[in-house]
Amino acid sequence: MSIIPVPHVAVIVVAAGSGTRLGAGAPKAFVGLAGRTILSHALERVFATTEPTQVVVVAPAGLEGEAESDIIRVAGDRRDLARVVTGGATRQESVSRGLDALWGDIDIVLVHDAARALVPADMIDRVIEAVRSTGHAIIPVVPVVDTIKRVDGAVITAAVDRSVLAAAQTPQGFRRDVLLTAYEAVGDDFTDDAALMQAAGHTVLTVEGDAMGFKITTAADLERAEAVLAPAAQLPRIGIGTDVHAFGGTGTLWLAGLEWPGEQALSGHSDGDAASHAIVDALLSAAGLGDIGTHFGTARPEFAGAHADIFLAETRRLVEQAGFRIGNVSVQIQAATPKFSPRREEAERVLSAILGAPVSVAATTTDGLGFVGTREGVQVFATALVVPSPSA
Ligand code: CTP
Ligand code: MG
Repeated sequence: MSIIPVPHVAVIVVAAGSGTRLGAGAPKAFVGLAGRTILSHALERVFATTEPTQVVVVAPAGLEGEAESDIIRVAGDRRDLARVVTGGATRQESVSRGLDALWGDIDIVLVHDAARALVPADMIDRVIEAVRSTGHAIIPVVPVVDTIKRVDGAVITAAVDRSVLAAAQTPQGFRRDVLLTAYEAVGDDFTDDAALMQAAGHTVLTVEGDAMGFKITTAADLERAEAVLAPAAQLPRIGIGTDVHAFGGTGTLWLAGLEWPGEQALSGHSDGDAASHAIVDALLSAAGLGDIGTHFGTARPEFAGAHADIFLAETRRLVEQAGFRIGNVSVQIQAATPKFSPRREEAERVLSAILGAPVSVAATTTDGLGFVGTREGVQVFATALVVPSPSA
């Protein structure tokens, strides 16, 4: 793992609100969105900035552990840069708790609403860059597209020129020292930090926001966010795997889930069944779960000598746990020996039964060419299709 330098930028993600207007029966940041929490979507993007930042998540009292779980899920190798603190009764108080948790080296602070779950990482980068180059407070804005009216009850009192208006988003970025002073100086409760900075007499500049910077406030906003995420979530995914094993193992040959008495064995950490290993890689890559080494490496001695039934059943479990079902698997074995065709259908039956999905197996020779042709080993290719489960 690469060593991440001590960051000079922090992002405070405020997630301690109750979500009254959403009315989903749980604090808003912990409401489900495409099978995960709203917070985890926001954090995924915060951890994807070009420059690694300190990340302070401000969680509602009692949900700090849930926030930790979301961090673990999406932080990757930036895990150590994140921590959780408990929020307060107002957004301003929550931000203030976050400010108390900043490391000494931080000189730029961004404050971000967890409720803006789909803000892209490049917008966060843009805010950091603008604070660094100007030294001023920076907020991302988008143009107001609706025609705006001033009203008094049900009566319109004036039209408002929308060209002088902009809608503010987060993250909003500040020099740490300036923001801290402003927080100490002002008493009122502001809905965003830019308003607080302005009240304290500071210049606030804008950068371009993003259509995906909308805040999830009502049920309709949550539906919009679901719709944005849905197309990708519903697409099937394909994966590829290959494996090569040399002849020269002890005992009998295992290939494509079958034992081949009297045939020369393949060597390997397990039974050397290159076909089942290629299938495992194809399935794991289709589901985005890494590769065979991630799950069955030498660190898991219980898989030493295991046969296809064990590997494939465990792989199927991992794929299903990740929210997919297996569509089909296609395998091609390149081997000069054993003669595969007499047992091709048997191999398909056995492998299909373990995976609960159709597995087709083809075999070919290589016309005497390469290591397959010289009978030094076998080579296998597999592709797999996985389909998101309806409930995922
Ligand atoms: N927030 C916070 N602490 C609070 C109130 C709000 O950390 N005491 C956070 C929310 O979690 C949210 C952001 O500030 O990410 C913007 O606030 P808002 O959209 O108003 O969220 P809620 O206050 O949760 O929603 P509502 O006002 O409908 O109750
Ligand atoms: Mg609120």
